Amino acid sequence: MLVRVLPYAKTLLSSVINEGDIAVDATAGNGHDTLFLANLVGETGFVYAFDIQQQAVDVTIQRLKENGLEHRARVILDGHEQLSKYVQEEVAGAIFNLGYLPGGNHDIITKGETTISAIEQLLSLLKIGGIIVLVIYHGHEGGKEERDAVIEFVKSLPQKYVHVLRYEFINQKNDPPFIIALEKMKKLPDLK
Ligand SMILES: C[S@@+](CC[C@H](N)C(=O)[O-])C[C@H]1O[C@@H](n2cnc3c(N)ncnc32)[C@H](O)[C@@H]1O
Repeated sequence: MLVRVLPYAKTLLSSVINEGDIAVDATAGNGHDTLFLANLVGETGFVYAFDIQQQAVDVTIQRLKENGLEHRARVILDGHEQLSKYVQEEVAGAIFNLGYLPGGNHDIITKGETTISAIEQLLSLLKIGGIIVLVIYHGHEGGKEERDAVIEFVKSLPQKYVHVLRYEFINQKNDPPFIIALEKMKKLPDLK
């Protein structure tokens, strides 16, 4: 069976995040991925999760508490473009779910410019062999602009430093999400 997009995102994260590692959920939302990462990093690792909506931060903390894992994560009410203010350690893996908060305000969406800024910051913090997974939702208003900006940016990354994968079912209707994954191969020079 072909692995579906969302399980594949988890497979990629599980392949690089181990007990004791630092992981980032760049778009906490309802906290499902933050919880998933908190399980992967174990008692000795740590997760940084970001969201610009108080509602998302509250729901994510609540979900961690329900699972007894709130001590494994810091859920930050700030944009992921501020990432390097909060994270200085080497990061093993990170996930972005682009778009709007399911069940929330559909006008509050991730944007190309800030997403790209967060990816750049993460690429510099990432371990060699670490992975950033982007789940790209692009059916909503503004989604195609962000998708195109992110793809243009990741395509321009030199392959000597970063391997870039696109994983997508190409015959599905209604703009299904797809994955872009970045694997750091070598310490990057300043990309700017
Ligand atoms: C698709 S949802 C995330 C879903 C989430 N991973 C889950 O498991 O439920 C996207 C989230 O990104 C948040 N967001 C939008 N812009 C952001 C930014 N600049 N930094 C961090 N989060 C942002 C939105 O508030 C929204 O909650």
